Amino acid sequence: MRKIISTLVSCSIILVGAPSLAFAGCGQISSPMTTEAILNRIKPVGGVDVEGGGAPKAVVAEALSASAGEDRYKSTCSVCHETGVGGAPKFRNEADWKPRMEAGLDGMLKIAIQGKGAMPPKGTCMQCSDEELRMTIQYMIPQKK
Ligand code: HEC
Repeated sequence: MRKIISTLVSCSIILVGAPSLAFAGCGQISSPMTTEAILNRIKPVGGVDVEGGGAPKAVVAEALSASAGEDRYKSTCSVCHETGVGGAPKFRNEADWKPRMEAGLDGMLKIAIQGKGAMPPKGTCMQCSDEELRMTIQYMIPQKK
């Protein structure tokens, strides 16, 4: 009994200091989580995967919040679209967007993905999914009243 208690105590001390060591030493009382599982749990949600090899697509899609379009616009597209750099249609400007909106959201999305003139492919957001770009365009165009 005494031995078990001292094992428990020393294990919980190690647990506080260095979780990965604790799993090696106290297998029978530690949780079955692997270090990898813990790292997965504590990593930021929807982390940007620049290399293209990391987070599975499903995870990224799940992390798209209602404000994803607004966030993406502000961090990437506003550089040109806020003031109309290079002839970019300005943010929610009726006159700028009207002729382009005739092609519909899908038509604009296609051009945004391919790029056009001074508009770089995907507006420089190479890691953006089609869905994220679509939400961003929806946020940029004049809003229905
Ligand atoms: C480097 C400047 C720049 C950035 C950054 C940029 N754009 Fe553009 N964008 C342009 C310009 C310039 C045009 C006008 C292209 C033309 O019609 O010749 C344009 C046009 C567009 C259009 C209209 C396409 C159409 O139907 O004619 C959409 C939609 C668009 N951009 C979306 C985006 C999104 C979404 C982002 C961010 C992910 C973004 N852009 C980032 C410069 C930029």
